[in-house]
Amino acid sequence: MSASVLILNGPNLNLLGTREPDIYGAETLADIEGACAAHAGALGLTTDFRQSNNEGEMVEIIQAVGKSCEAIIINAGAYTHTSVAILDALLAVGLPVMEVHLSNIYQRDEFRHHSYISKAATGVICGLGSQGYLLALDAVAARRGDDNKKV
Ligand code: DQA
Repeated sequence: MSASVLILNGPNLNLLGTREPDIYGAETLADIEGACAAHAGALGLTTDFRQSNNEGEMVEIIQAVGKSCEAIIINAGAYTHTSVAILDALLAVGLPVMEVHLSNIYQRDEFRHHSYISKAATGVICGLGSQGYLLALDAVAARRGDDNKKV
């Protein structure tokens, strides 16, 4: 049976393609969604790809799919650096979490160096653009059948 992976994107990621392309590249979120679906299919996974500009909605999505998905890949955007609520939702559902950022947050403003999400994350990938999402899917697939091991 194919496992379903929630890929959850936070605020302003709907603007990819036009948003600060020198930092985030030219690909749109729809491009990334398509690449994820294709890559997941090759790995025997299915994806539920979402985006929200709203912190509470992101919490609701995590709670809702927590019952049906096997893993969560999350790029929480700016909420990465502010949201205890999203951290708590991820801890509550207890699924393997892969944290992804398109940019290398450690080369950027100091306020981007801290992530609340990382406390719930099995792995963190940043600075590799959209490839980070595909690598996160690889990591989810590699952990399948191994009780979704944390390390
Ligand atoms: C981001 C990095 C965050 O600091 C920023 O607020 C984003 C995108 C990234 O993918 O590089 O919105 O998560």
